[in-house]
Amino acid sequence: MTSPVPASLGLSPAEVAAVLEAAATAPSVHNSQPWQFRVLPDRIELHADLTRRLLATDPDDKELRLACGAALANLRIALEALGVRPLLTLLPRGTRALAVVRRGGHVTPADGVLDLRRAIPARHTNRKPFLNDRVTPVELSELVHAAQSERSWLHPVTDPVQRNRLHALVVRAHQVQLANVEFRAELERWTGHGGERRDGVPARAAGPAHEPQDQWVLRDFSGGRARERLPGKDFEPEPLIAVVCSYYEGRLAELHAGQAMQRVLLTATTLGLSASFIAQPIEVPSCREELRRLLGAGVNAQTILRVGHGSPVASTPRRPVAELLIDAEPVLPGGTP
Ligand SMILES: Cc1cc2nc3c(=O)[nH]c(=O)nc-3n(C[C@H](O)[C@H](O)[C@H](O)COP(=O)(O)O)c2cc1C
Repeated sequence: MTSPVPASLGLSPAEVAAVLEAAATAPSVHNSQPWQFRVLPDRIELHADLTRRLLATDPDDKELRLACGAALANLRIALEALGVRPLLTLLPRGTRALAVVRRGGHVTPADGVLDLRRAIPARHTNRKPFLNDRVTPVELSELVHAAQSERSWLHPVTDPVQRNRLHALVVRAHQVQLANVEFRAELERWTGHGGERRDGVPARAAGPAHEPQDQWVLRDFSGGRARERLPGKDFEPEPLIAVVCSYYEGRLAELHAGQAMQRVLLTATTLGLSASFIAQPIEVPSCREELRRLLGAGVNAQTILRVGHGSPVASTPRRPVAELLIDAEPVLPGGTP
Protein backbone atom coordinates (compact mmCIF):
# COMPACT_ATOMS: atom_id res chain seq x y z
CA MET A 1 0.00 0.00 0.00
CA THR A 2 1.40 3.41 -0.87
CA SER A 3 -1.53 5.71 -0.01
CA PRO A 4 -0.78 8.78 2.09
CA VAL A 5 -0.98 8.48 5.86
CA PRO A 6 -4.52 9.19 7.14
CA ALA A 7 -5.44 11.46 10.05
CA SER A 8 -5.97 9.67 13.37
CA LEU A 9 -6.46 10.32 17.09
CA GLY A 10 -7.13 13.99 16.37
CA LEU A 11 -3.74 14.40 14.69
CA SER A 12 -3.13 15.60 11.13
CA PRO A 13 -1.79 13.19 8.49
CA ALA A 14 1.65 14.82 8.78
CA GLU A 15 1.64 14.37 12.56
CA VAL A 16 0.58 10.71 12.24
CA ALA A 17 3.35 10.17 9.69
CA ALA A 18 5.87 11.65 12.14
CA VAL A 19 4.59 9.37 14.93
CA LEU A 20 4.89 6.29 12.71
CA GLU A 21 8.35 7.33 11.57
CA ALA A 22 9.36 7.55 15.24
CA ALA A 23 7.91 4.08 15.86
CA ALA A 24 9.83 2.64 12.91
CA THR A 25 13.11 4.04 14.23
CA ALA A 26 13.07 1.27 16.86
CA PRO A 27 15.81 -1.37 16.90
CA SER A 28 15.11 -4.87 15.55
CA VAL A 29 17.20 -8.00 15.06
CA HIS A 30 19.22 -7.62 11.82
CA ASN A 31 17.22 -4.40 11.27
CA SER A 32 14.39 -6.58 9.97
CA GLN A 33 11.76 -3.96 10.92
CA PRO A 34 9.04 -6.56 11.53
CA TRP A 35 6.14 -4.13 12.10
CA GLN A 36 3.09 -2.80 10.27
CA PHE A 37 0.50 -0.19 11.24
CA ARG A 38 -3.20 0.06 10.53
CA VAL A 39 -4.31 3.65 10.96
CA LEU A 40 -8.03 4.31 11.59
CA PRO A 41 -9.65 7.56 12.72
CA ASP A 42 -10.00 6.38 16.34
CA ARG A 43 -6.97 4.12 16.72
CA ILE A 44 -3.55 3.00 15.51
CA GLU A 45 -2.99 -0.74 15.46
CA LEU A 46 0.47 -2.30 15.63
CA HIS A 47 0.80 -5.61 13.78
CA ALA A 48 3.72 -7.98 13.32
CA ASP A 49 4.93 -8.26 9.73
CA LEU A 50 5.37 -12.01 9.53
CA THR A 51 7.01 -11.80 6.11
CA ARG A 52 9.97 -10.40 8.06
CA ARG A 53 10.36 -13.23 10.53
CA LEU A 54 13.88 -14.54 11.18
CA LEU A 55 13.17 -18.24 11.32
CA ALA A 56 16.72 -19.39 12.03
CA THR A 57 17.60 -16.70 14.58
CA ASP A 58 14.25 -16.17 16.28
CA PRO A 59 11.98 -19.13 15.41
CA ASP A 60 9.45 -18.36 18.16
CA ASP A 61 9.22 -14.63 17.27
CA LYS A 62 10.26 -13.63 20.78
CA GLU A 63 12.70 -10.98 19.55
CA LEU A 64 10.23 -9.94 16.86
CA ARG A 65 7.82 -9.07 19.68
CA LEU A 66 10.61 -7.26 21.59
CA ALA A 67 11.22 -5.14 18.48
CA CYS A 68 7.49 -4.46 18.08
CA GLY A 69 7.38 -3.51 21.77
CA ALA A 70 10.22 -1.06 21.14
CA ALA A 71 8.30 0.43 18.19
CA LEU A 72 5.27 0.74 20.46
CA ALA A 73 7.30 2.58 23.12
CA ASN A 74 8.46 5.05 20.49
CA LEU A 75 4.91 5.48 19.21
CA ARG A 76 3.59 6.21 22.71
CA ILE A 77 6.38 8.70 23.44
CA ALA A 78 5.85 10.46 20.08
CA LEU A 79 2.10 10.72 20.76
CA GLU A 80 2.65 12.12 24.25
CA ALA A 81 5.12 14.64 22.88
CA LEU A 82 2.30 15.85 20.59
CA GLY A 83 -0.08 16.17 23.55
CA VAL A 84 -2.02 12.92 23.02
CA ARG A 85 -2.36 10.67 26.07
CA PRO A 86 -2.01 7.17 24.59
CA LEU A 87 -4.55 4.63 25.79
CA LEU A 88 -2.92 1.29 25.21
CA THR A 89 -4.38 -2.20 24.86
CA LEU A 90 -1.87 -5.03 24.43
CA LEU A 91 -2.98 -8.18 22.59
CA PRO A 92 -6.59 -7.01 22.27
CA ARG A 93 -9.20 -9.75 21.97
CA GLY A 94 -10.88 -10.33 18.64
CA THR A 95 -8.04 -8.88 16.58
CA ARG A 96 -4.61 -9.99 15.45
CA ALA A 97 -3.00 -6.72 16.49
CA LEU A 98 -0.15 -6.84 18.98
CA ALA A 99 -1.39 -3.53 20.35
CA VAL A 100 -4.01 -0.87 19.80
CA VAL A 101 -3.47 2.74 20.79
CA ARG A 102 -6.42 5.11 21.25
CA ARG A 103 -6.65 8.73 22.34
CA GLY A 104 -7.03 8.97 26.10
CA GLY A 105 -7.43 12.76 26.18
CA HIS A 106 -4.93 15.60 26.18
CA VAL A 107 -1.66 15.60 28.08
CA THR A 108 0.91 18.34 28.54
CA PRO A 109 4.17 16.51 27.82
CA ALA A 110 6.63 16.46 30.72
CA ASP A 111 10.24 17.52 30.06
CA GLY A 112 11.31 13.89 30.47
CA VAL A 113 8.98 12.82 27.65
CA LEU A 114 10.31 15.53 25.35
CA ASP A 115 13.87 14.38 26.17
CA LEU A 116 12.93 10.79 25.27
CA ARG A 117 11.25 12.02 22.05
CA ARG A 118 14.46 13.80 21.04
CA ALA A 119 16.43 10.65 21.84
CA ILE A 120 14.43 8.49 19.38
CA PRO A 121 16.30 9.56 16.21
CA ALA A 122 19.57 10.02 18.15
CA ARG A 123 19.72 6.41 19.46
CA HIS A 124 21.81 3.98 17.40
CA THR A 125 23.29 0.59 18.21
CA ASN A 126 26.95 1.30 18.87
CA ARG A 127 29.26 -1.68 18.21
CA LYS A 128 32.45 0.35 18.50
CA PRO A 129 34.71 0.26 21.56
CA PHE A 130 33.53 2.53 24.36
CA LEU A 131 35.68 4.79 26.52
CA ASN A 132 36.93 3.28 29.74
CA ASP A 133 34.73 5.59 31.89
CA ARG A 134 32.19 3.54 33.78
CA VAL A 135 28.46 4.06 33.95
CA THR A 136 27.88 5.75 37.32
CA PRO A 137 25.51 4.40 40.00
CA VAL A 138 23.19 7.39 39.42
CA GLU A 139 23.04 6.66 35.68
CA LEU A 140 22.44 2.98 36.38
CA SER A 141 19.56 3.74 38.72
CA GLU A 142 17.93 5.84 35.97
CA LEU A 143 18.22 2.90 33.58
CA VAL A 144 16.76 0.51 36.18
CA HIS A 145 13.92 2.95 36.80
CA ALA A 146 13.25 3.16 33.02
CA ALA A 147 12.75 -0.62 32.87
CA GLN A 148 10.59 -0.64 36.00
CA SER A 149 8.30 2.00 34.54
CA GLU A 150 7.44 -0.56 31.82
CA ARG A 151 6.68 -3.41 34.28
CA SER A 152 10.04 -5.05 33.65
CA TRP A 153 13.38 -5.38 35.37
CA LEU A 154 16.93 -4.43 34.40
CA HIS A 155 19.49 -6.74 36.00
CA PRO A 156 23.02 -5.28 36.00
CA VAL A 157 25.56 -8.11 35.88
CA THR A 158 28.15 -6.78 38.31
CA ASP A 159 29.09 -9.85 40.35
CA PRO A 160 32.42 -11.11 38.88
CA VAL A 161 31.41 -14.78 39.09
CA GLN A 162 28.08 -14.11 37.37
CA ARG A 163 29.86 -11.99 34.77
CA ASN A 164 32.35 -14.74 33.97
CA ARG A 165 29.60 -17.31 33.65
CA LEU A 166 27.62 -15.02 31.39
CA HIS A 167 30.66 -14.40 29.24
CA ALA A 168 31.20 -18.15 28.83
CA LEU A 169 27.53 -18.48 27.86
CA VAL A 170 27.87 -15.75 25.23
CA VAL A 171 30.89 -17.49 23.70
CA ARG A 172 29.12 -20.87 23.69
CA ALA A 173 25.91 -19.48 22.18
CA HIS A 174 27.93 -17.66 19.53
CA GLN A 175 29.69 -20.89 18.56
CA VAL A 176 26.41 -22.82 18.44
CA GLN A 177 24.98 -20.20 16.09
CA LEU A 178 28.01 -20.12 13.81
CA ALA A 179 27.84 -23.91 13.49
CA ASN A 180 24.26 -23.59 12.25
CA VAL A 181 24.15 -23.28 8.45
CA GLU A 182 20.66 -21.74 8.43
CA PHE A 183 21.61 -19.14 11.02
CA ARG A 184 24.67 -18.17 8.98
CA ALA A 185 22.64 -17.95 5.76
CA GLU A 186 20.08 -15.68 7.46
CA LEU A 187 22.84 -13.48 8.87
CA GLU A 188 24.34 -13.18 5.38
CA ARG A 189 20.98 -12.35 3.82
CA TRP A 190 20.27 -9.53 6.23
CA THR A 191 23.63 -8.01 7.11
CA GLY A 192 26.88 -6.73 5.70
CA HIS A 193 25.36 -4.97 2.67
CA GLY A 194 26.77 -1.86 1.06
CA GLY A 195 24.05 0.56 2.21
CA GLU A 196 21.77 0.27 -0.83
CA ARG A 197 18.88 -1.35 1.05
CA ARG A 198 16.22 0.19 3.34
CA ASP A 199 16.53 -2.68 5.82
CA GLY A 200 19.21 -5.04 7.11
CA VAL A 201 22.48 -4.01 8.76
CA PRO A 202 24.94 -2.23 6.47
CA ALA A 203 28.60 -3.25 6.78
CA ARG A 204 29.48 0.26 8.02
CA ALA A 205 27.50 -0.46 11.24
CA ALA A 206 29.65 -3.51 12.02
CA GLY A 207 32.24 -1.97 14.33
CA PRO A 208 35.88 -3.02 14.29
CA ALA A 209 37.03 -6.60 14.03
CA HIS A 210 37.62 -8.32 17.33
CA GLU A 211 40.88 -9.22 18.91
CA PRO A 212 41.10 -12.35 21.06
CA GLN A 213 41.29 -10.30 24.27
CA ASP A 214 38.08 -8.41 23.53
CA GLN A 215 35.03 -9.52 25.47
CA TRP A 216 31.31 -9.30 24.82
CA VAL A 217 30.90 -8.03 21.25
CA LEU A 218 30.87 -11.01 19.02
CA ARG A 219 28.40 -10.97 16.16
CA ASP A 220 30.01 -10.07 12.84
CA PHE A 221 27.93 -7.83 10.58
CA SER A 222 30.71 -6.98 8.15
CA GLY A 223 29.48 -9.36 5.43
CA GLY A 224 33.11 -10.35 4.89
CA ARG A 225 34.12 -6.76 4.04
CA ALA A 226 37.39 -5.46 5.48
CA ARG A 227 36.59 -3.89 8.82
CA GLU A 228 37.94 -0.76 10.36
CA ARG A 229 40.90 -1.65 12.56
CA LEU A 230 41.86 0.42 15.51
CA PRO A 231 45.50 -0.46 16.14
CA GLY A 232 46.21 -0.92 19.81
CA LYS A 233 42.62 -0.12 20.77
CA ASP A 234 40.81 -2.84 22.63
CA PHE A 235 37.20 -2.88 23.61
CA GLU A 236 36.58 -1.32 27.01
CA PRO A 237 37.34 -3.76 29.85
CA GLU A 238 34.33 -3.01 32.05
CA PRO A 239 31.19 -2.03 30.15
CA LEU A 240 27.92 -2.17 32.02
CA ILE A 241 26.32 -5.48 31.07
CA ALA A 242 22.63 -5.45 31.92
CA VAL A 243 19.86 -7.92 31.18
CA VAL A 244 16.35 -6.71 30.38
CA CYS A 245 14.04 -9.17 32.15
CA SER A 246 10.33 -9.77 32.40
CA TYR A 247 8.58 -11.12 35.48
CA TYR A 248 6.73 -13.79 33.54
CA GLU A 249 6.87 -15.51 30.14
CA GLY A 250 4.86 -15.21 26.97
CA ARG A 251 3.76 -12.72 24.35
CA LEU A 252 2.52 -10.08 26.78
CA ALA A 253 5.77 -10.23 28.76
CA GLU A 254 7.75 -9.81 25.53
CA LEU A 255 5.74 -6.75 24.54
CA HIS A 256 6.33 -5.23 27.99
CA ALA A 257 10.02 -6.12 27.85
CA GLY A 258 10.37 -4.60 24.37
CA GLN A 259 8.94 -1.33 25.64
CA ALA A 260 11.24 -1.51 28.68
CA MET A 261 14.27 -2.25 26.47
CA GLN A 262 13.49 0.82 24.37
CA ARG A 263 12.91 3.07 27.38
CA VAL A 264 16.26 1.92 28.79
CA LEU A 265 17.98 2.62 25.44
CA LEU A 266 16.37 6.05 25.09
CA THR A 267 17.15 6.95 28.70
CA ALA A 268 20.75 5.90 28.07
CA THR A 269 20.78 8.21 25.02
CA THR A 270 19.50 11.16 27.09
CA LEU A 271 22.36 10.48 29.55
CA GLY A 272 24.92 10.54 26.73
CA LEU A 273 25.44 6.77 26.95
CA SER A 274 25.69 4.29 24.06
CA ALA A 275 24.51 0.70 23.89
CA SER A 276 24.73 -2.46 21.85
CA PHE A 277 23.10 -5.87 22.14
CA ILE A 278 24.51 -9.30 23.01
CA ALA A 279 21.58 -11.49 22.03
CA GLN A 280 23.28 -14.82 21.35
CA PRO A 281 22.44 -16.54 24.70
CA ILE A 282 18.83 -15.39 24.34
CA GLU A 283 18.56 -16.97 20.89
CA VAL A 284 20.04 -20.40 21.71
CA PRO A 285 17.41 -22.23 23.82
CA SER A 286 19.83 -24.25 26.00
CA CYS A 287 21.84 -21.09 26.80
CA ARG A 288 18.67 -19.12 27.49
CA GLU A 289 17.67 -21.74 30.04
CA GLU A 290 21.11 -21.54 31.66
CA LEU A 291 20.88 -17.76 31.69
CA ARG A 292 17.59 -18.01 33.52
CA ARG A 293 19.24 -20.22 36.18
CA LEU A 294 22.20 -17.83 36.34
CA LEU A 295 19.95 -14.83 37.06
CA GLY A 296 17.61 -16.70 39.42
CA ALA A 297 14.97 -14.75 41.34
CA GLY A 298 12.14 -15.76 39.01
CA VAL A 299 12.95 -13.35 36.20
CA ASN A 300 13.08 -14.17 32.48
CA ALA A 301 15.97 -12.76 30.46
CA GLN A 302 14.69 -11.05 27.30
CA THR A 303 17.78 -9.30 25.97
CA ILE A 304 21.31 -8.37 27.06
CA LEU A 305 22.70 -4.87 26.67
CA ARG A 306 26.25 -3.52 26.76
CA VAL A 307 26.19 0.11 27.87
CA GLY A 308 28.96 2.68 28.11
CA HIS A 309 30.41 5.94 26.84
CA GLY A 310 30.73 5.64 23.06
CA SER A 311 31.78 7.85 20.20
CA PRO A 312 29.12 8.82 17.62
CA VAL A 313 27.92 6.27 15.06
CA ALA A 314 25.75 6.70 11.97
CA SER A 315 22.13 5.67 11.66
CA THR A 316 20.96 2.52 9.86
CA PRO A 317 18.32 2.77 7.11
CA ARG A 318 14.56 2.44 7.58
CA ARG A 319 11.72 1.69 5.18
CA PRO A 320 9.48 4.67 4.37
CA VAL A 321 6.29 5.01 6.42
CA ALA A 322 4.06 4.41 3.37
CA GLU A 323 5.46 0.86 3.18
CA LEU A 324 4.45 0.17 6.77
CA LEU A 325 0.74 0.89 6.37
CA ILE A 326 -1.88 -1.80 5.97
CA ASP A 327 -5.57 -1.32 5.15
CA ALA A 328 -6.88 -4.50 6.72
CA GLU A 329 -5.74 -6.99 9.29
CA PRO A 330 -3.01 -9.15 7.78
CA VAL A 331 -3.77 -12.77 6.96
CA LEU A 332 -1.37 -14.78 9.06
CA PRO A 333 0.30 -17.66 7.25
CA GLY A 334 2.02 -19.07 10.30
CA GLY A 335 -0.51 -18.47 13.09
CA THR A 336 -0.76 -15.70 15.64
CA PRO A 337 2.46 -13.73 16.21
C1 LIG B 1 16.00 -7.95 20.32
C2 LIG B 1 17.22 -7.41 19.59
C3 LIG B 1 18.38 -8.17 19.55
C4 LIG B 1 19.52 -7.68 18.90
N1 LIG B 1 20.67 -8.43 18.91
C5 LIG B 1 21.82 -7.92 18.42
C6 LIG B 1 23.07 -8.61 18.58
O1 LIG B 1 23.11 -9.70 19.12
N2 LIG B 1 24.20 -8.02 18.12
C7 LIG B 1 24.16 -6.77 17.55
O2 LIG B 1 25.22 -6.27 17.20
N3 LIG B 1 23.00 -6.10 17.36
C8 LIG B 1 21.83 -6.63 17.79
N4 LIG B 1 20.65 -5.92 17.69
C9 LIG B 1 20.68 -4.58 17.10
C10 LIG B 1 20.12 -4.51 15.69
O3 LIG B 1 21.04 -5.09 14.79
C11 LIG B 1 19.85 -3.03 15.36
O4 LIG B 1 18.80 -2.59 16.18
C12 LIG B 1 19.47 -2.80 13.92
O5 LIG B 1 20.52 -3.10 13.08
C13 LIG B 1 19.03 -1.34 13.69
O6 LIG B 1 20.07 -0.46 14.01
P1 LIG B 1 19.92 0.66 15.14
O7 LIG B 1 19.66 -0.03 16.44
O8 LIG B 1 21.22 1.39 15.11
O9 LIG B 1 18.75 1.55 14.78
C14 LIG B 1 19.49 -6.40 18.27
C15 LIG B 1 18.30 -5.66 18.30
C16 LIG B 1 17.18 -6.16 18.95
C17 LIG B 1 15.91 -5.33 18.99
